[in-house]
Amino acid sequence: MTDLNLFKNKVENKTAVIGIVGLGYVGLPLAIEFVKAEFNVIGFDIDQEKNDQLNAKKSYINHIPSSAIAMMVDNNKFNATSDFSKISECDAILMCVPTPLNEHREPDMKYIINTAELLAPYVKENQLYCLESTTYPGTTREVLVPILESKNNLKATRDFFVGYSPEREDPNNGKFSTATIPKVVGGLDKDSLAAGVALYNQIIVETVPVSSVDAAEATKLMENIFRCVNIALVNELKVVFEKMNIDVWEVINAAKTKPFGFMPFYPGPGLGGHCIPIDPFYLTWKAREFDCATRFIELAGEINSKMPYYVIDRCMNELNEQGKSLKNSKILILGLAYKKNVDDPRESPSFKLWKLLEEKGAVVSYHDPYCPTVPKMRAYPELYQIPSTPIEKVSDFDLVLLSTDHDNVDYDFVQQNAKLIIDTRNAFKAADNTFKA
Ligand SMILES: NC(=O)c1ccc[n+]([C@@H]2O[C@H](COP(=O)([O-])OP(=O)(O)OC[C@H]3O[C@@H](n4cnc5c(N)ncnc54)[C@H](O)[C@@H]3O)[C@@H](O)[C@H]2O)c1
Repeated sequence: MTDLNLFKNKVENKTAVIGIVGLGYVGLPLAIEFVKAEFNVIGFDIDQEKNDQLNAKKSYINHIPSSAIAMMVDNNKFNATSDFSKISECDAILMCVPTPLNEHREPDMKYIINTAELLAPYVKENQLYCLESTTYPGTTREVLVPILESKNNLKATRDFFVGYSPEREDPNNGKFSTATIPKVVGGLDKDSLAAGVALYNQIIVETVPVSSVDAAEATKLMENIFRCVNIALVNELKVVFEKMNIDVWEVINAAKTKPFGFMPFYPGPGLGGHCIPIDPFYLTWKAREFDCATRFIELAGEINSKMPYYVIDRCMNELNEQGKSLKNSKILILGLAYKKNVDDPRESPSFKLWKLLEEKGAVVSYHDPYCPTVPKMRAYPELYQIPSTPIEKVSDFDLVLLSTDHDNVDYDFVQQNAKLIIDTRNAFKAADNTFKA
């Protein structure tokens, strides 16, 4: 039987042991926050290389310093392992594993399912299991709970607590980090919710309880669908305004002076990252079960996924003006990561641009201070370990295509030395060799 007071006491006197499953961009900062709040944390990852690095006090994420890992290990508050039997030592288990799309652009639940299967043999009375991975409404109840209940004859809500709390981590955001972003929490029942709120209150500035795990799952999807649709809208306006010889960035900067009723979104070469291009399709997939269409999401996906093609057309047109074809032209893609000032290249539109340029016969290189070589990714294995070209070589290229506008690039130097620039981020000043796209 669950005992909420016992769980809350352990949390409040910090004797609760926290298990974090999946030590990536989301799980690792969460582990750090719990250690900072003086909890003992066990990190679980199936990637033993990551566990070894963490136990050796090394970070593998650019914006998380190794000193933060050393702080955890030196205080004897953290250990990373792939031995899932240690789950039975934990009081709260938070799951932060990937939720990508499969080749049919449908939710790929294998990481959540594998995780639940690894945990199931060690489920104990009065533990809290809380999923943090972004997913469609219904996942916690329909996918996670049946697997957790499958081994030890224990029932969710009767014997252990279950919650869902979406992660809102925005890597390298200067203003907000794990501890300062309010956290939405849903529980499978009233006590599960209370257990989740008690736990997150220890490390997060504000918890936002909602009435169900489904509402919490839907909240995360709504946030990311909102971004996806608005980015598509501004991408569409960019194309229209370009035809009218109007600079969309100038228009956005003017529009955002309105103190109410407008929120700026910025165009780009396509959608990137592990969230915005993917999460909306989790809802689209689930909506089909309810015979509902998600036309805004589909349309936004269509517009955003056309952006790289638009950018390539702009490259071709401007090269053409110089009497050059894209075929055999040397192109330098500036910025590989999916957004500025991070090293995460997952789902970055830069790779789509790279492939489209190569299909047209261009010779492609890249420069990215955050990615000295192309890291290991699920997609594009053929690009693995290709090195970043030094920026000093910019004059060797027929065209520089700015895809990601990191702050630590000398844009004046690039502009003075490049033959031709296509700027998808409004990073360059107006100049004869620079065209926005
Ligand atoms: N990265 C972000 O900015 C961000 C923001 C909000 C939400 N999210 C969501 O959070 C979740 C995790 O994303 P991430 O960016 O941290 O992913 P990630 O790929 O950086 O990390 C996931 C980790 O889980 C590990 N893993 C996979 N299967 C496992 C298993 N069965 N047991 C233990 N470990 C396992 C992987 O080895 C990896 O280290 C996703 O659902 C994502 O959509 C991510």
